[in-house]
Amino acid sequence: MKTFKRIGVLTSGGDAPGMNAAARAVARVALERGIEVMGIYRGYSGLISGDIKPLGPRDVSNIINRGGTFLYSDRCPEFKTPEGMQQAIDTCHRFGIDGIVALGGDGTFRGATDLTAHGIPCVGVPCTIDNDITSTENTIGFDTAMNTVVEIIDKLRDTCESHARCNVVEVMGRGAGDIALKTAIASGATAVVVPEFPYDDKSICKKIKAGKELGKRNFIVIVSEGVGSDYAPTLAKTIQAETGVETKFARLAHIVRGGNPTLADRVLASRMGAFAAEELLRGNSNVVVCEVNGKIVAKDINYALILDRMYKGTLKDGDLDKFSAEDIERMKAEIEVKKATLLDLFAVGNKINI
Ligand code: ADP
Ligand code: F6P
Repeated sequence: MKTFKRIGVLTSGGDAPGMNAAARAVARVALERGIEVMGIYRGYSGLISGDIKPLGPRDVSNIINRGGTFLYSDRCPEFKTPEGMQQAIDTCHRFGIDGIVALGGDGTFRGATDLTAHGIPCVGVPCTIDNDITSTENTIGFDTAMNTVVEIIDKLRDTCESHARCNVVEVMGRGAGDIALKTAIASGATAVVVPEFPYDDKSICKKIKAGKELGKRNFIVIVSEGVGSDYAPTLAKTIQAETGVETKFARLAHIVRGGNPTLADRVLASRMGAFAAEELLRGNSNVVVCEVNGKIVAKDINYALILDRMYKGTLKDGDLDKFSAEDIERMKAEIEVKKATLLDLFAVGNKINI
């Protein structure tokens, strides 16, 4: 079994609240076992350029409560080129980095699997507010982002109630309606629009009109950004024209990606970060850490990436060739669970919010 002397930790892609807590857990577990830990700054960019510093136990103090990432993040197209990859490998050798825990989303995991194939074992930890990693029930940052959305919508509702208005609120989620569906329930939104389910302006306006007739004064409509950036502002105009309810539009955008992580994200990040370091050190690499039925487990990165493609309907020719019939059945079952979860959230929202 490979022995480790020094491992690296990096954060890559879109930042997510809880990344700091996860990096802290990785460092604390490894240091406790006498393994040196290097902080790799600016994701794969820092791995290419050698923006790397040792992390001691105190270097990760006072960060469990902080949003953003103290290691900084980056999107690094150069890393996808053979030259960029070679430079990253050379940096690992120069700094004596024997393995890496990579915190990020599916792009980050693609990079991690390439690094593993080039002899640097990696473990991925799912950090993204979107919750769009199909292999895990929850991603780090999702809970905090939703809590921020709900806090803001509560404020919007106050002013809507005072003025008898509607507010169309666009929330983040690149192609994934998870944030929108859950916050719609929690904020009592009149309607929610996500790319996963059919929607039409007419039925939204009908619901608002019906509510108005019953004496309802405030209306919140949540739209997930995945339906397209023009949709929500146009919907606000349509609602005003069709219902006579004055309607404002708000795009929450990156506001919901910042801020201190919630308790749930701190705990999830600590559990996943600790598990990732243990997994790497016990010689199990090329895996992504996932939450399944509340338990923290490891799944093969390639399995997780192809599962995502199957879920999103973006499978390419030959993608399934390396998987057994059993694996493919398991993927299909996981997708059914994910779809059923979203459908349940959608149905509950529609049932109880008028
Ligand atoms: P996320 O990890 O949040 O999905 P990105 O998709 O931007 O964010 O990916 C983060 C980084 O991972 C990219 O900037 C790039 O350096 C690396 N990466 C993304 N896709 C690949 C790929 N196909 N092969 C190798 N590295 C990749
Ligand atoms: O993936 C996280 C996310 O915040 C998405 O919700 C959003 O579409 C995207 O990243 C925004 O990316 P950027 O920070 O590059 O604007």
